[in-house]
Amino acid sequence: MTASGQRAILLTGGAGQVGSALRGLAPAGWDIHAPTRNELDLADPDQISAVVASRPWAAVISAGAYTAVDRAEDEVVAAWRVNALGPAALAQAAARAGTPIVHLSTDYVFDGRKSGPYVETDPVAPLNVYGASKLGGELAVRTANPRHVIMRCAWIVSTTGSNFVKTMLRLGAERPVLRVVDDQRGCPTTADEIASAVRRVVDRLIEDQNAPTGLYHFVSQGEGSWCDLAKTVFEIAAERGAPRPDVQPIATSQYPTPAARPGNSVLSTAKIARDYGIEPKPWRAGVRHVVEQLVAPATVGVP
Ligand SMILES: NC(=O)c1ccc[n+]([C@@H]2O[C@H](COP(=O)([O-])OP(=O)(O)OC[C@H]3O[C@@H](n4cnc5c(N)ncnc54)[C@H](OP(=O)(O)O)[C@@H]3O)[C@@H](O)[C@H]2O)c1
Repeated sequence: MTASGQRAILLTGGAGQVGSALRGLAPAGWDIHAPTRNELDLADPDQISAVVASRPWAAVISAGAYTAVDRAEDEVVAAWRVNALGPAALAQAAARAGTPIVHLSTDYVFDGRKSGPYVETDPVAPLNVYGASKLGGELAVRTANPRHVIMRCAWIVSTTGSNFVKTMLRLGAERPVLRVVDDQRGCPTTADEIASAVRRVVDRLIEDQNAPTGLYHFVSQGEGSWCDLAKTVFEIAAERGAPRPDVQPIATSQYPTPAARPGNSVLSTAKIARDYGIEPKPWRAGVRHVVEQLVAPATVGVP
């Protein structure tokens, strides 16, 4: 605790989607420190150890990552440094101080060939470099710090950074027809909803030495394809006077990308509901909230 009775929390990736949401939703009792990339470079294990050792932290939240999925195919070493070695250093330094760590990971650890939602005990088989490097991070955190929660998320959307919803709104303003992949399914989840789940987990880890640890999945409730998500975005945006392009479904094979992506990214959240009492909200409600913030309502009747 700080002199003012607050809990000092170290947050990596504080400028990212989830990091920004966490800073916005931090409870009054949290004193969040979110170093910039210059102050804490996840590719620099020595700097990470020094920052973690610089003062007592109530908890470490690891939300920083190399998230450029396609670029990672060409930058294998950079992706592994940031997504595996960085979290390794973070988790080990936190463990030395007896500090719990919450580390964010991804659905891309799976190959997507399962039918039905993935549970935490399902075998992993990443299809791309990003997913493999994130899996490396999971293993490093798990083995370096016994007081860890690894939270796999997926399909994150928000008003900040770059994400599918923002890309669709931009393209929808430029083109009358959009062709969108319809054979990859997942659970669109707002950064705010993830941040509030992280917040509950962190509070419990701080308060209760026996709080559950380990691997958890957390996404919004329900599932859809990228095409379903695009249609939902434009439906909501159109209510506010934004253009509504014709969204046409296509197969992944018609939209080749450098990194292969899983066809099924749907995650089961039963374990986090059971251990932490966290129940996800329907994804369309979260997407509505994001779109309504991004699209200003049309002004009617102003002379
Ligand atoms: N986005 C998704 O759909 C998705 C899906 C599943 C899981 N996840 C995981 O969820 C977590 C949060 O994702 P997000 O969407 O919030 O990510 P994001 O918006 O891409 O933000 C990533 C953050 O990491 C920081 N970062 C990158 N390289 C760094 C380095 N070398 N040193 C220090 N900071 C560095 C970035 O800093 P700058 O601001 O300086 O670039 C940024 O603040 C990540 O672990 C990600 O792997 C994301």
